[in-house]
Amino acid sequence: MAAPKRMVPGFAILLLLLGCTVMAVDLYSANTNPEVQEFQRVELSCVIKHTNTDNPRVEWKKIRNGDISYVFFDNIIQGDLKNRAEIKGGISLVIFNASRTDTGRYRCEVAAAEDQKRFSEITINLTVTVKPVVPQCKVPKSVPVGKSAVMHCQEKEGYPSSVYRWYRNGDPLPDDSKSNPKFLNSSFMQNISSGTLVLGSVNKGDIGQYYCIASNAAGSARCEAQLLEVYDINIGGIIGGILVVVLVLVLITVGICCAYRKGYFANSSRSNGQSYKNPSKTDGVNYLRTSDEGDFRHKSSFVI
Ligand SMILES: *[C@@H]1O[C@H](CO)[C@@H](O)[C@H](O)[C@H]1NC(C)=O
Ligand SMILES: *[C@@H]1O[C@H](CO)[C@@H](O)[C@H](O)[C@H]1NC(C)=O
Ligand SMILES: *[C@@H]1O[C@H](CO)[C@@H](O)[C@H](O)[C@H]1NC(C)=O
Ligand SMILES: *[C@@H]1O[C@H](CO)[C@@H](O)[C@H](O)[C@H]1NC(C)=O
Repeated sequence: MAAPKRMVPGFAILLLLLGCTVMAVDLYSANTNPEVQEFQRVELSCVIKHTNTDNPRVEWKKIRNGDISYVFFDNIIQGDLKNRAEIKGGISLVIFNASRTDTGRYRCEVAAAEDQKRFSEITINLTVTVKPVVPQCKVPKSVPVGKSAVMHCQEKEGYPSSVYRWYRNGDPLPDDSKSNPKFLNSSFMQNISSGTLVLGSVNKGDIGQYYCIASNAAGSARCEAQLLEVYDINIGGIIGGILVVVLVLVLITVGICCAYRKGYFANSSRSNGQSYKNPSKTDGVNYLRTSDEGDFRHKSSFVI
């Protein structure tokens, strides 16, 4: 019974000793998930907590979409970060002017100079946030009462992706009009991730200036307010308009008939016929020649 109790601490001390010789470098980071706005300074912290080697070798690698590239190798900053970064305190990586393309995972690797196989590493996940730009907003100009209307708001620069909030006359609209008694007379839903605002059945209370704000961790941007107008579909007016058109058509028809009866068109066709230029009108010409005007008018009224 006593033997195992004495063996356990002995075994643990042995492991600890082994660990010290194998783990020549012990790393930690003040922040493994730094987030910075584009064009700002950021430090990718990598600190040697403990080492038993005098001259550790430091390398930084970037991992983005599965591709690994060197950032700090052979004691110089490589690639895209050249002139934009430096090594601080012998090991941390400082980027002076972060670019949106710097987002990714960075691996700090420190190896004992005398034995390259003994190294440790730590991974830093850098997020470079980008402010939204002014979103493009689509608001219909004018919608009839009772119809639905859709508004769109979107911008594509922001990182992480923007969320969108619609405003009417300066008031932020809730996701669902039903959730707020202030919007009792309206019926709408908005999707803050797609930027779509759908008005179900438009009424006069929906008239107003609409704009949208795109925002993310880095900032926000809004579009110009646009006026939505709502009009009545006036059934009486439409029927009245149709009646007027029908009436005008009837009057024109009656007018043409009367003109035929009074021989207005016959006169003009006779003057054509008298030129004798159209052979197909020969019959008409003959007819006209052989009859006086009164006769012709009488016959033509029978024809009609
Ligand atoms: C940072 O980089 C951008 C272009 O990537 C440049 O326009 C800007 O002037 C730079 N800012 C500083 C402080 O170097
Ligand atoms: C890196 O950070 C971002 C945002 O902070 C997070 O969404 C992502 O899951 C993180 N990735 C890893 C590998 O930790
Ligand atoms: C809703 O409409 C009614 C009648 O049109 C009006 O009296 C009331 O004030 C409106 N409510 C809101 C919150 O606008
Ligand atoms: C909002 O829009 C996104 C993207 O179009 C979609 O995936 C999501 O299901 C929508 N959410 C709701 C509540 O409709």
